[in-house]
Amino acid sequence: MSYYITLFFICIYICLGQDLINNRVLPFIEASIATESVGTDPDDPAIWIHPNQPELSLIIGTDKKTGTGGLYVFNLDGKIIQHIDNIDRPNNVDVEYGFKINETYFIDLVVFTERLQSRLRIFSININIRQLYEITGRNTNVFIDSIGKAAAPMGLALYKRPSDKKFYAIVSRKSGPNYNYLGQYELIWNQGLVDLKFIRYFGDCRGREIESIVVDDQLGHVYYCDGSYGIRKYNVDPSTNQTEQIGFINTTNLWQGDSEGLAIYTTSDRNGYLITTDQISRGTIFHIFERQGTNSYIKSIKTRADRTDGIEVTKIFFFMIGVL
Ligand SMILES: *[C@@H]1O[C@H](CO)[C@@H](O)[C@H](O)[C@H]1NC(C)=O
Ligand SMILES: *[C@@H]1O[C@H](CO)[C@@H](O)[C@H](O)[C@H]1NC(C)=O
Ligand SMILES: *[C@@H]1O[C@H](CO)[C@@H](O)[C@H](O)[C@H]1NC(C)=O
Repeated sequence: MSYYITLFFICIYICLGQDLINNRVLPFIEASIATESVGTDPDDPAIWIHPNQPELSLIIGTDKKTGTGGLYVFNLDGKIIQHIDNIDRPNNVDVEYGFKINETYFIDLVVFTERLQSRLRIFSININIRQLYEITGRNTNVFIDSIGKAAAPMGLALYKRPSDKKFYAIVSRKSGPNYNYLGQYELIWNQGLVDLKFIRYFGDCRGREIESIVVDDQLGHVYYCDGSYGIRKYNVDPSTNQTEQIGFINTTNLWQGDSEGLAIYTTSDRNGYLITTDQISRGTIFHIFERQGTNSYIKSIKTRADRTDGIEVTKIFFFMIGVL
C-alpha cells in the first residue's frame, strides 16, 4: 500500500522472469525505493518537477477512502511531507505546468477527481515551501446532467494546448453510456480560484469502465483504456473537427488483469513510449507501445508489484512510479 519508484532504465538491461506473453519470456524489473505507506487505498500518482532544482521535485498520490480519503505529497526519498485529508474518494490526479493567471504570472496545477462529490479539486504549489494550496472554484462539478455512478468522476488527465496554452481536464466516470463516456472541461481563472467550463462529451466505451487516461500534449492525442477491450485514441483538441476515434490498440491477447494506468515517456517531440499497467496480484505487468504512428506493441515487463493501480513516468529522473 505504498507508491514505489523504479529506475526505468533498468528495463533496458534485464531479461529474467518466468512469465510468458505469446510464448515470449518477459523481462523483469525490481522497485528501487518505496514511499511511506498511506492509510487505505492508494490509487494514482503524479509527479511535479521543481523548475530549477529537480531533487526538490514532488510525488503526489491519492488515497481513495470514502469520506476521509486524502492526497499525499512525498519527497523523492518517499517521505510524506504533506497530507490533505477529508476528501470524498479522490481517484486520479494529474499535474500541468504554467497556467496563466494574468499577463505576467503563471502557476502549476494539481487536479484530482473527488468521486463522491462529483467534482474536481484544484490545487497549486507554493514552490518556496513545497506545499500544495487549494484554489478549487465554486463551479467544478462534472457530469451535471447525470446521476449516480454516471456522475462520479474517476479517471483524469490534464491537457495544455500548445497553440494558446489553454488548460483542459479530460474526465471519465465510474460507469456510463457506450458513447460520450468522457467529459472535457476548460479550466478558467476566476478571481483567485479555478472554475470549469464544459466543452464536450466524447469517447466510446465497450468495456466495464474507463479509469486510465493520458494526454499527449505535443501530438494532440488522448488515450484511454476501455476496460479490457483495448486502448482508444482520439484528438484531444476540441477545435479539430475529427471527433471520432482515430486509433485503437487491440489488447485482447495482452491484458491479464485490469487496465489501471497509462503514461507517456517522450524521447523527442514526436517519439517515445505509451505505457499501461496490467493490475495483477504480486506481479503487475507494464505493457509498452510506441508513442508515434499506430502505437505498435513493443514489449511487456514483469514486476513484483502487487495489483498496481495508476502509473506516472518522467524522463527527468528516469523514475517510473506505480502503486503497490
Ligand atoms: C499577477 O499576479 C501576481 C500573483 O498574484 C501578482 O503578484 C502580480 O502583481 C499580478 N500582475 C498583474 C499585472 O496584475
Ligand atoms: C472545423 O469546421 C469549422 C466549421 O465548418 C471550420 O470553420 C473550421 O475551420 C474547421 N476547423 C478545422 C481545424 O478544420
Ligand atoms: C481484437 O483482436 C481479437 C483477436 O485477434 C479479435 O477477435 C477482435 O475482433 C479484435 N477486436 C477489434 C475491436 O478489432
